[in-house]
Amino acid sequence: MSALAPIPPTLTWRGDAFGHLDLLDQTRLPHERVVLRLTDVDAVVEAIATLRVRGAPAIGVAAAFGLVLGVRALNPLPQALPAVARDVAMRLAAARPTAVNLRWALDQCLDALRREATLTALFRAAEQLWADEVATCDRIGAFGAPLVPDGGTVLTHCNAGRLATVGCGTALGVLFTAWNQGKRFRVLATETRPLLQGARLTALELAAAGIPVELCPDSAAAGLIASGAVQMAVVGADRIAANGDVANKVGTYSHALACFAHRVPFWVAAPRSTFDLRTRDGSQIPIEERDGTEVTQLGGVAVAAPGVAARNPAFDVTPARLLRGIITDGGLVEAPFEPAIKALFPAGR
Ligand code: MRU
Repeated sequence: MSALAPIPPTLTWRGDAFGHLDLLDQTRLPHERVVLRLTDVDAVVEAIATLRVRGAPAIGVAAAFGLVLGVRALNPLPQALPAVARDVAMRLAAARPTAVNLRWALDQCLDALRREATLTALFRAAEQLWADEVATCDRIGAFGAPLVPDGGTVLTHCNAGRLATVGCGTALGVLFTAWNQGKRFRVLATETRPLLQGARLTALELAAAGIPVELCPDSAAAGLIASGAVQMAVVGADRIAANGDVANKVGTYSHALACFAHRVPFWVAAPRSTFDLRTRDGSQIPIEERDGTEVTQLGGVAVAAPGVAARNPAFDVTPARLLRGIITDGGLVEAPFEPAIKALFPAGR
């Protein structure tokens, strides 16, 4: 049994279409459990941009409810509702550019409004999205669990767990499911500089579930992989191009290179909502560049001399050729990736 304080849900909507969003402030983890009560769209945009809520599926669901809050406040006439909703959606979509789930979730809600231009229809679409995301995580877990090596060590980067979704997670969903099925393994979690999602969030989630986890500096991963300490890697994704190239948290690419060089299977776990078939390959994926102070400071304390500039891309692109495969809610996708990805969307996208 773990002695850690329970982790509140990532997001909770309270009430009907006139309710509010309770959002766990992930910037305060692992030390504090602070749940924010969000009642307007500005607060949701701020929470997404500052990573109070983060992880591709979670920001999609948060944005859907942000849209409800934003449209509700403007109280437009029915005929004006779709246009008003489009404007609010554009503000939410701009909060973070790389994770395609954000835009995808908003598009689902706008589609629902085209069928019925009412606040109730918008609210129902957001609720449906939520329920679908929970089921999606369960399916990813079920498809991925058989790949987890019993008795082995699995590397993961950043956080693709409960905190990054509204379900059991994607990459961590695979691990939680395997663990619940009785497999026993260890996890090597990379700390994930500069914002430490691995140290602050992944290690917390795994420890809370009683899964043995060791943290390592990002820079230690290649050496550990080379030494035979890792039997599988599994990470999440923010956007997957039509050819299988994957944008995920910065540092993913170097872990994938090391795994490829040392023949360790490198898997990506992601819902179909993370695929962007309009993006031909990884070079077309917009990479968010965040403020340099996230690099020059650590926990608000300067670690570089005053005036030192920094580069801070939040994501990088791992070419499909380095992947063993992609675990999706529609099954496993393996090379050749392009036709396998097409087959995931028989009705097109
Ligand atoms: O900047 P973040 O913390 O939002 O980055 C999150 C990731 O890169 C995750 O791996 C990805 O969103 C998948 S979450 C299921």
